[in-house]
Amino acid sequence: MDPTWTPSSWRDLPAAQQPDWPDPAALEHVYKQLSTLPPLVFAGEARRLRSSLADVASGGAFLLQAGDCAESFGDFTADAIRDKLKVILQMAVVLTYGAGVPVVKVGRIAGQFAKPRSSPTEMVGGVELPSFRGHLVNDDAPTAEARVHDPARMLSAYHQSASTLNLLRAFTTGGYADLSHVHKWNQQFVASSSQGRRYDAIAGEIDRALRFMRACGIDLQGEATLHQVEFWTSHEALVLGYEESLTRQDSLSGDWYDCSAHLLWVGERTRQLDGAHLRFLAGVANPLGCKLGPKATVDEVLGICATLDPDREPGRLMLIARMGAGKTPDRLPALLRAVRDAGHPVLWACDPMHGNTFASPGGRKTRRFDDVLTEIAEFFGVCRAEGVWPGGVHVELTGDDVTECLGGAGVEEILEDHLNIRYTTACDPRLNARQSLDLAFQVAELLRRT
Ligand code: PEP
Ligand code: CO
Repeated sequence: MDPTWTPSSWRDLPAAQQPDWPDPAALEHVYKQLSTLPPLVFAGEARRLRSSLADVASGGAFLLQAGDCAESFGDFTADAIRDKLKVILQMAVVLTYGAGVPVVKVGRIAGQFAKPRSSPTEMVGGVELPSFRGHLVNDDAPTAEARVHDPARMLSAYHQSASTLNLLRAFTTGGYADLSHVHKWNQQFVASSSQGRRYDAIAGEIDRALRFMRACGIDLQGEATLHQVEFWTSHEALVLGYEESLTRQDSLSGDWYDCSAHLLWVGERTRQLDGAHLRFLAGVANPLGCKLGPKATVDEVLGICATLDPDREPGRLMLIARMGAGKTPDRLPALLRAVRDAGHPVLWACDPMHGNTFASPGGRKTRRFDDVLTEIAEFFGVCRAEGVWPGGVHVELTGDDVTECLGGAGVEEILEDHLNIRYTTACDPRLNARQSLDLAFQVAELLRRT
């Protein structure tokens, strides 16, 4: 650990994508409040996740990281959180049952409120406005007033994260995630689809297996893992003042933890080696992720490994390739080889979403489900060729029946004409619950062949 690091030492370096908070006094006031509020997660939890991710890095488990592109202050209900959890639990069941590997479940949830943007302004209905930067920073309504950066939003984001996390903890440990409820995670609009029926068949087999074990006299009641799931939170550590304010020193180890989430990642636009984001993340002991787009070079990636994981600790660092379908076989192998040869025990995951975004003719940001699947298949292929464990997938999804990504199986296929029907994302297009389940079946198939 660098002895010169402090939670605020990132302030000496250039920080990309930071809000322009207009009122310094109001900002200081918010930071003061945030820094006295209780931590959202605890150091011991972050250490447990690190240990689970070390299992993934060594090929003994698989990571499923999933959730919204951007959580919303507007769409904040118990039902929406439950339905998101349902689809992630369903996907985890498909992966665990189908591929026989433990699945580490991490949500893009309870803190995923800030967005990097390619341009400081955007055109909305013919008017140029400051870009929407996530509800932690400004509002998405198409007016200049709504787009002003307001530091009080950081407090709202904190409180919404706390409520979300509270509900997630209740759902995952209070009986809802009990394996005997595996059928109930199949929402009605999913159950009628071919993937939903396939899921129901697996759920039936799991029921039978549980009945069989009970009949054999095995005490299933005493097996906590059948009744609870471990579910972790994560978000992009983008707005560094917010992250700094929630950073606390662990009384047991003396290490610093960013207590806004279990896992933090740095995005493709903010991973500069000499930048503030890497400086900040290097000093917190949480497990970390770093996105890598198609332009990432070997030198950059080795620099990121050396900065974020100097002690080469398994479970510390995850590299998330988001190259785009068609580019992965060309761009990724050299990075896999370089990291392996340098002896960094990183976890490699694939984000098949962000390299495959484009605008539909009607102007909607979308992705093709086929491109998403292609990139995942390419990722598995490249990893296999290099002898690297394809450790996980990182996807943007929702439990709702949205029409945001094109494609999907059978009569449920989403066509360009459908994009306007239920397009509710606050930022990037998400897979709906059927497409998500479909993806899990295909990933399970790839894992079986690995
Ligand atoms: C994201 O995960 O929503 C995102 C903006 O990703 P990236 O940094 O890979 O573009
Ligand atoms: Co996104």
